Amino acid sequence: MTLHTVIYDTDPGIDDAIALVFQALHPEIELAGITSVFGNASIATTTRNALYLAQRFAPGVPVARGAAAPLQCMAPEPLGWIHGDDGLGNIGLPEVDHAPLDSRPAHQFIAETVRARPGEITLLAVGPLTNLALALADDPGIAERVKEVVIMGGAFGIGGVLGNVTPAAEANIHCDPHAADLVFAAPWKVSIVGLDVTHETVMTTAYLASIRDRGGDAGRFVWDISRHYERFHSESDQATGIFAHDYSAAAYLVAPHLYETRGGPVRVVTEGIANGLTIQKPFGMQVDAPDWEGRPSCEVCVGVDAPGVLDLFDRMLCDQNA
Ligand code: RIB
Ligand code: CA
Repeated sequence: MTLHTVIYDTDPGIDDAIALVFQALHPEIELAGITSVFGNASIATTTRNALYLAQRFAPGVPVARGAAAPLQCMAPEPLGWIHGDDGLGNIGLPEVDHAPLDSRPAHQFIAETVRARPGEITLLAVGPLTNLALALADDPGIAERVKEVVIMGGAFGIGGVLGNVTPAAEANIHCDPHAADLVFAAPWKVSIVGLDVTHETVMTTAYLASIRDRGGDAGRFVWDISRHYERFHSESDQATGIFAHDYSAAAYLVAPHLYETRGGPVRVVTEGIANGLTIQKPFGMQVDAPDWEGRPSCEVCVGVDAPGVLDLFDRMLCDQNA
């Protein structure tokens, strides 16, 4: 039974791909589209990967090509040492005869799909927020027609968590801080799944090996593409395993009870040494904060039942193959 009709805005990207596999298997998720964006790799690579993933795991789902660069800056260098030169762990993707790209750019695909299905579409965005900002510029009215927006991004200092590309900034926000500040200013329901909770949600080597052994084709794919990502986490002393960044946003969508959230408007620093820093003014904070006045509240994830989130992924991949 579909409870969530999703446009997945993504920069695949190893953890993006893992989150897509989960969405394709989850019975309550209907993928209405996949929109690519620059970020973990160039737009050409993330778009090719989106087409590959759609063909393999979500056949028939339209794919639209998105932004190649941020609103106001140059596109970042691809993150080959993190996601592989091919964006999916250098596993040697077979060529697939995938369906052609949608003729519309991602932001137009988003705006037209939302207008056609008012109140139904969830935007699940796990890369730079450029496409969403462009869609708002194309048609500000979509903010009232979107069901909700769930993004993976940001870091709010919970438990001392800092950024992951600078001491201040998380990668998705840092890639396009202007877009993020526009997205957090729009009158739609926004939930933000940041490093504060994704750093608590670690898929260990043993966990991933178990998914490989019990998760069928999807489980073997998750194992294969996570090898490169795990080496990055190990070599950068981040974790023994991988942070489930983008999957966490999908898990929040279908199981919000596994997360604790805090309401309040969010601003993004768009210049200087803290460029990309996300700052929430929590409800009830008694300070003078004109830069946050008049902005809608966002729900920021400040706590997570990580074992529950990992169990959900395991059930989705392995119960299918039980
Ligand atoms: O900071 C983690 C985020 O940046 C994830 O979405 C990952 O895929 C990269 O895009
Ligand atoms: Ca991503």
